[in-house]
Order: sequence, then structure tokens, then C-alpha cells
Amino acid sequence: MNQTPRHYHITTFGCQMNKADSEQMAGILEKMGFQWSDDPNQADLILYNTCTIRDNAEQKVYSYLGLQARRKQENPNLTLILSGCVAQQEGEKLLQRIPELDLVMGPQHTNRLENLLEDVFNGNQVVATESRHITENITQPRRESTVTAWVNVIYGCNERCTYCVVPNVRGVEQSRTPISIKKEVEDLAAQGYKEITLLGQNIDAYGRDLPGSTETGRHLYNFTDLLYFLHDVPGIERFRFATSHPRYFTERLIQACAQLDKVCKYFHIPFQSGDNDILKSMGRGYTIERYREIIDKIREYMPDAAISADVIVGFPGESEQQFQNSLKLAEEIGFDQLNSAAYSPRPGTPAAHWSDQLSFEVKSDRLQRINHLINTKAAQRSQLRLGKIEKVLVEQVNLKDPSQVMGRTDGNRLTFFAGDINQLKGKVVSVKITATRPFSLTGELV
Ligand code: SAH
Ligand code: SF4
Ligand code: F3S
Repeated sequence: MNQTPRHYHITTFGCQMNKADSEQMAGILEKMGFQWSDDPNQADLILYNTCTIRDNAEQKVYSYLGLQARRKQENPNLTLILSGCVAQQEGEKLLQRIPELDLVMGPQHTNRLENLLEDVFNGNQVVATESRHITENITQPRRESTVTAWVNVIYGCNERCTYCVVPNVRGVEQSRTPISIKKEVEDLAAQGYKEITLLGQNIDAYGRDLPGSTETGRHLYNFTDLLYFLHDVPGIERFRFATSHPRYFTERLIQACAQLDKVCKYFHIPFQSGDNDILKSMGRGYTIERYREIIDKIREYMPDAAISADVIVGFPGESEQQFQNSLKLAEEIGFDQLNSAAYSPRPGTPAAHWSDQLSFEVKSDRLQRINHLINTKAAQRSQLRLGKIEKVLVEQVNLKDPSQVMGRTDGNRLTFFAGDINQLKGKVVSVKITATRPFSLTGELV
């Protein structure tokens, strides 16, 4: 029998949910006896965990795959896996495009990797994309950080934003039970983790599919309840969460964040457009007035709160004036961070079929203009921290300067300062900010 361990390599594209899934799959592979290889070209098993939110994200994976498919022609023992959102979207079709693939698996099959691989090792080419109830996984994920961890609380999305593939590729909402989430958080605390980011595409939907939740017309158990339930787990110093949806965001959640010490005063609430007519054709279910109200409320309770968001420019039919409404909103709110994207038509979404698509030139021009504003605003927000003392949770060494460590402020700003990682890792320390850049800070330990 061949005793040399087999090696694996995972490349992850896309959002935090994909990253969390990759950690889960790495855990499964290690339990099966595989060892991590930094170099994909030395690996016997290669897994691409893919994203299809925009066309460029999807295309990227095909070029990577082409290379490994050629390698497989010389080395038939190489196992090639495509998982994640492109896998779900394209399914069987991928086998025609890349016959070298051994396994195509959608996100709902993440914790079935071991079973699926058994099939593959029995000589089958496997496609697993049918929708499925996600069961709890007992395998320990192999997490990238030893300080911060992602914890999924709700999978899928029931919204129907007219531009978005996520509901097609991630399926319907499935909330995990509060008990199993708490157990995972307690286990993480026992392993020494300090910060937990709770994840959901629409985290405000948490609980509404749990048994009994709709009987009274009110959700018996919602995301705010979950925060209170998790908050006191000893050892965990910080909680973050994403993504919030303005349609369902409540004042009760704002109050909870203000009241609970461990919850970071940091909110990621995408607005997508600063124009009410565009919001309507996006199917977002709120107005700009409602969005502003939420931000005002947050700042009323927590004047220092950091706020980030996502915005799409060049949505079908967006006029120059409507685009300027997005600029205006970005200008007035002054986001700490704003992720911008040019609209990309996606398969299986309504907006992709509309006739009023904008040209590549118009979209790129708007993207450049909003990016300029985003940088200016972020720089201003950073500058407000100058001379202040920030609580920083130290995560790792600064890879560009090993005499420094890297951590994040409560408001999620990357912060660098001189220090010894062996002494500081996992500690929350006070750092006086001495220099600022749009998206990061430098300071000194006090
Ligand atoms: N659930 C989150 C968003 C998840 S997708 C929410 O509701 O806000 C992450 C981001 O990708 C979105 O916020 C949006 O800004 C962007 N995005 C999604 N579909 C897109 C598309 N077709 N073209 C361009 N950007 C898109
Ligand atoms: Fe996509 Fe809308 Fe769901 Fe967010 S809420 S994942 S943008 S459909
Ligand atoms: Fe991409 Fe899928 Fe996340 S499409 S953004 S990896 S949910």
C-alpha cells in the first residue's frame, strides 16, 4: 500500500461564505488524511471554490482550471474538484467544457465532500447540485486564523434582487439552530479564538424559517435574540456580523449592538443605489429615506460607529442623474468603506434580459468616479482616528514588516504597530494612532 500522504490545495474565490466553506472542506480533507500543499502544482487534489457574482469572477476560474486540466492529462491521478457558486450555476455543463473534472459540487453539498470523494475514488465523475437540507457538520474546519473565525448562522437567501445570482446558487434560507451555533462558538472559545463574525447573505432573516417562528406572525427568534444568546460565551471578546439588509434591519438590533460590549460598533449595510427608482427596479424593498433613517439611528446610539456598504453602478437604465444620487448618498454618509462594482448581467436573473443595458464605457466611467469619492471619504474617516486610542485585536505579524503586528480596530480598520507577535497575538491592546491611510492605520502601543 502506498503510504505517502496525498496533498491538497484549495483556491477560494468570492465572499466570506465561500471562505468559510473552504475551511470546512479543508477540515474534511485533513480528516481523510490529506495534507495541505502551498503549491497547487505539488498537490494530488485540487479544489476551486468558485464565485459567480459578476462575470469577471466566473471567468477567472476557467483560466485557472485550464492549467490544471492540462496537468491532469499527464497525471491521471490528480483529482480536480470545482465547488461553490459557479459549480451550482453551471452543473453538468462543466463536464462538457472541462472533461478532466472529477467532481462538481454546489455550496449546499460542502459537508458531503467525503462521501462525494468516495464516489470519485471508485472511478465515477460526480455532479452534486440538487438542492438539499444542510445538516450540521461534525468535522472541525481547518481555519486560516487562530484568532478570528467565521460562523455561518443562516445559509441561502429568499430575496429576489433583480441583478443577483445568490438565491439561484445558494438556495433558500436555512437558519442553523441557536444551540448548534452556540456550541460552535463555545468550541471556538475553548480553542482560543477571540473574535467571531456571524455570517448570512441576509442576516436579518435569521430565524424566520425556524420551527414555530411564523405562527404568531412575528419571528419568535430573530438575529437580535441570537446576539443576546451568544454574547456571554466566555473567552470571546468580539462579535461582528454581516450582511445586513436595510429592508429588515431593526431598531432593536441597533439597541442591542449599543448595549452589548462585545459587539463591535461596525455595520455593513449595502445600499446598492442612492436612487429610489433604481432601488425599485432592483427589487430591494426600501427607499433611500429608510436607509438614511437606519444610519441616523445607528449614529444616534453610537456616534463613533463605523459603517460600510456595497453599491452597484451602471444598473440597467441608470441615468447620469440617478448615478449622481448614489454619489450624493456616498458623499453625505461618509462610509468608512464602500465596495463598488459595475453592474454585470448574470445568467438566470431578470435584469440581465432588460433592454436598457448601459455600455461598458459608461459603467467604467461611473465606477472610476465613485471609487475616487470612496477613497477620499475613507481617508477622511481614517483621519478622524489620528491621535485617538483604539482597541486593537492583534491577529498576525505584518507580512511586509515583521517588526510590526497587524490587527483590527473595533471599527474594522486594519492597524499596524511595532510589537512582538508572540506576545501580542490574540490580545486586545490599546494603540495610539500616529498615521492614517484610507483603509488602514499605523500606531504605537500604549
Ligand atoms: N447579500 C448581500 C450581497 C451579496 S453579493 C446584500 O444583499 O447586500 C455582494 C455584492 O455584490 C452585492 O452587495 C452587490 O453590490 C454586488 N453584486 C451582486 N450582484 C451583482 C451584479 N450582477 N453586478 C454587479 N455587482 C453585483
Ligand atoms: Fe443577492 Fe439580494 Fe439576496 Fe443580497 S439580498 S444575496 S443582493 S438576492
Ligand atoms: Fe460569490 Fe457565491 Fe459569495 S456567487 S459572492 S461566492 S455567495
